[in-house]
Amino acid sequence: MPLWTGRFKKQLDSQTNDFNSSIPFDSRMYTQDIKGSVAHAKMLGNQGIIDREESELIAKTLGDILYDIDEGNLEIDMTAEDIHTFVEGELTKRIGDSGKRLHTARSRNDQVALDLKLYLLDQYKELAGLLGELVWTLTKKANTYYDAVMPGYTHLQRAQPITFGHHLLAYCEMFMRDFDRFCDWQKRTKVSPLGSGALAGTTYPIDRHSVSEQLGMDGNVTANSLDGVSDRDYALEFLSILSIIMVHLSRFSEEIIMWCSWEFKFIELDDAFSTGSSIMPQKKNPDIAELVRGKSGRVFGDLQTLLTVMKGLPLAYNKDMQEDKEAVFDALDTVIMCLKTFTPMIDTAEVLTENMRKAAAKGFINATDAADYLVYKGLPFRDAYKATGQLVALCIDKDLTLETLPIEEYKAVCELFEEDVYKAIDLDECVRKRTVKGGPSPECVLREVKNMRQRLGL
Ligand code: ARG
Repeated sequence: MPLWTGRFKKQLDSQTNDFNSSIPFDSRMYTQDIKGSVAHAKMLGNQGIIDREESELIAKTLGDILYDIDEGNLEIDMTAEDIHTFVEGELTKRIGDSGKRLHTARSRNDQVALDLKLYLLDQYKELAGLLGELVWTLTKKANTYYDAVMPGYTHLQRAQPITFGHHLLAYCEMFMRDFDRFCDWQKRTKVSPLGSGALAGTTYPIDRHSVSEQLGMDGNVTANSLDGVSDRDYALEFLSILSIIMVHLSRFSEEIIMWCSWEFKFIELDDAFSTGSSIMPQKKNPDIAELVRGKSGRVFGDLQTLLTVMKGLPLAYNKDMQEDKEAVFDALDTVIMCLKTFTPMIDTAEVLTENMRKAAAKGFINATDAADYLVYKGLPFRDAYKATGQLVALCIDKDLTLETLPIEEYKAVCELFEEDVYKAIDLDECVRKRTVKGGPSPECVLREVKNMRQRLGL
């Protein structure tokens, strides 16, 4: 039975009922719905709006319902209109008229706004944990490969030497920002909308702060009833954070896919995290990384869905807003699944440092260091840059590298060059010298691993 019988002479058409119903997807918020109702019922009793005994009976029975659903003793009725209707119906089935008093001073509009907030606040903890695990795994690898020289790229062209540890720490920074974004988000989200009613608050002497307190929202309550029921910024922000996580994961995935190719061969994924081809026996494919890259599109789509649903909606509640949940849940499930698969894939990947070094030895990635050598000898950088450019042209001509070019050739271009130039352009030396804060030197990597772990609280 819907909650809104009375003025209606006919039952809802069954197809329309299915169309209107949200229980297939909002049933997953049953815990939050019940917790919100318990807090509300207790407050009604404390404020003398309903009998204290009745309020206690309601709270206790709601607890029983929660237990029964958790234990599989009570199946959620998928023909109910939504999870709120189902819980209230079950309550009334169990305790009769007392159950009908639960909805005093409340509407499903403030109730659903609360439920989704509580649900996301619970899920945020899992997400934060998964991000933490990923960052931890990356710091572990960065610590192992703190001095493994590899080419750093711009425009996907070999640019300057860096360390693999440094490269991994770049992703740690991104995922830590995502982590921080969640922390900021939860501060803004822990604000209870209960008491906003359908749209215009309530005439009952309710205590909104105590409900908020009971629900772990630190006594914070929304300041405008219209906004309280129609705000979905918290869901949009949540989807935005999920989308940014997917941007980061997809960039990382793209690199992993490249690194696995024979053209790079910087890493080898564990067999448990790769797949084969049905026709080409030699193939070992980075499907997981590709899927993560692909699923980013899906999460961005979910964000786009909710932006479009909310765009242009007049105040206050409109049924359009029921469309928020599927988008949010899909993105949430997707990101959780991606993080759960991605982290062990990285953790178990073999790093082929020799290949990285070989790639670093080509492409003149120490040319900037050769120019810097001249700058340290007093030449203005622009002149040093030009002289080194001439050396590179010479090397290309003679099929040599800066390491194998004879000192006479150096001197012919600029007499400031001495034998010690070879040390200055040695790849290990090039990264070792980059000790500036945020730099790729092994020393910096080890320091930043420590900092990162401290930020993680580990
Ligand atoms: N299932 C609804 C939703 O998710 C609950 C709120 C219903 N409110 C209403 N006025 N019909 O948005």
